[in-house]
Amino acid sequence: MTQWWRDAVVYQIYPRSFADGNGDGTGDFAGALARLPYLAELGVDAVWFSPFYPSPLADGGYDVADYCDVDPRFGTLADFDTFVAAAAGHGIRVIVDIVPNHCSSAHPAFQAALAAEPGSPERDLFIFRDAPNNWQSLFGGPAWTQTPDGQWYLHLFDSSQPDWNWANPAVPAMFEKVLRFWLDRGVAGLRVDVAHGLFKDPELPDVPDPTPSDRPSPWFHRPELVAHYATWRAILDSYPEDVFPGRRTAVGEFWGDEITHLEPYFIPGGMPQAFNFFLFQTAWDAAALRHTITASLALTEGSDVVAPWVISNHDVMRPVSRYGAPAPAHSDAEVDVALGTRRARAAALLLLALPGSAYVYQGEELGLPEFLDIPAADRDDPVYRRSQGARLGRDGCRVPIPWSCTAQPYGFTEGTSTWLPQPSGWGSLTVEAQLADPSSTLTLYRQAIAGRPRGEFAWLDGYDLAFTRGDDFACVLNLGAEPVPLPAHESLLLASDAITDDVLPQDTAVWLRLR
Ligand code: NOJ
Repeated sequence: MTQWWRDAVVYQIYPRSFADGNGDGTGDFAGALARLPYLAELGVDAVWFSPFYPSPLADGGYDVADYCDVDPRFGTLADFDTFVAAAAGHGIRVIVDIVPNHCSSAHPAFQAALAAEPGSPERDLFIFRDAPNNWQSLFGGPAWTQTPDGQWYLHLFDSSQPDWNWANPAVPAMFEKVLRFWLDRGVAGLRVDVAHGLFKDPELPDVPDPTPSDRPSPWFHRPELVAHYATWRAILDSYPEDVFPGRRTAVGEFWGDEITHLEPYFIPGGMPQAFNFFLFQTAWDAAALRHTITASLALTEGSDVVAPWVISNHDVMRPVSRYGAPAPAHSDAEVDVALGTRRARAAALLLLALPGSAYVYQGEELGLPEFLDIPAADRDDPVYRRSQGARLGRDGCRVPIPWSCTAQPYGFTEGTSTWLPQPSGWGSLTVEAQLADPSSTLTLYRQAIAGRPRGEFAWLDGYDLAFTRGDDFACVLNLGAEPVPLPAHESLLLASDAITDDVLPQDTAVWLRLR
């Protein structure tokens, strides 16, 4: 059976911010349905929806109160089914987000645990102890919160996101049902949140350095995970090719401090895909990027696991602002948007020319910058709250998408306000404006997705960052100050910026048809 995801382009929809269909200022399935033709024209193979489940939205929906329903703010299960069917009509598959490390404190199982006695089966679904250890939450502050009866529960993220106890067989059994619920509804795949989490060292030991990181630890990359994901792979593979040709898939959100931390997952019969976040963690430097790409390709060699390339998602600063400031920016004034845009466009041609699958986060194709100057009162991310504002958090990359017009809400909603404010000055970045502009970032993405190369990857000698795909395609980047002459070629397929005299200026990329 085909493994359609091996070289797919997957578009990430952050439902609150993609498109609003009912005028309440929050995105929903009705809005997404209306924008399906846009996604079809963009040329993506699948969409991944960040969580849309019933949730207090304390962490944008990654705090799930019911894994098998749709939050009324986003629509209904029937709306979901309608979207899946309509997407199929456009040849687009749907991937849903599974959040197995933790749920919402509003989940009935956690409410029952709070109401039950210490030591009860209800509490054993979570990680309750009489005293906390020294682990810290990834969102800031301690990873433990005390309950009124004196016990403490573990939460690697917000206190409203209690961690499930994966050592209790009832937890994997419950998640198997969740997987089947969505697979039975015709989803083509699952994105697995905090895939390197779930299992904890049963001793819950204090650690010498409790600073959160993504290296192997008593809470991340536990050895149980590899066998666990083999059971999920078997579930995926048990589904027939009834919706689309090809098997169902899953993509794990595996973070690591180093590429080697991901090695255990690259085995036959494991989770079909593991995100490769190293591309966007790498500085805008040719040697560093080359090193990352080489190490990433080595990781996947000989395994049937794919490591999709990513330059942005709903958790990290948008590429334009990341590449447009010498250090992580804290205000819009610190970002050189022109420079960032130039680099982000070159990065897009790199992303879409590399072998394998690529994930594109909504708004990336528009070259949106991060909105860093969101007023404090409007900020929503628990990272901002838990760090007392020391970390701005991720709201700036979650701003509602500008579709049309020259002022807020830029066609995002029929209403007047949006759940997060949009900045002024985005009139030239709207979908409508960019569709009319042959040199826009949206046009570049559409052309690049349509023209992705398929041949064998090889580095091109004599260049800092250039490679071929098969005999007749080359992607060449120049990140350095010195202009780089292009290799002999038959035609220029795509350029991230204007090219004259066959010379590649700094921070540009080209796709070439070779002689
Ligand atoms: C990773 C998700 O991508 C992020 O948005 C979320 O806050 C954490 N996991 C916790 O679920």
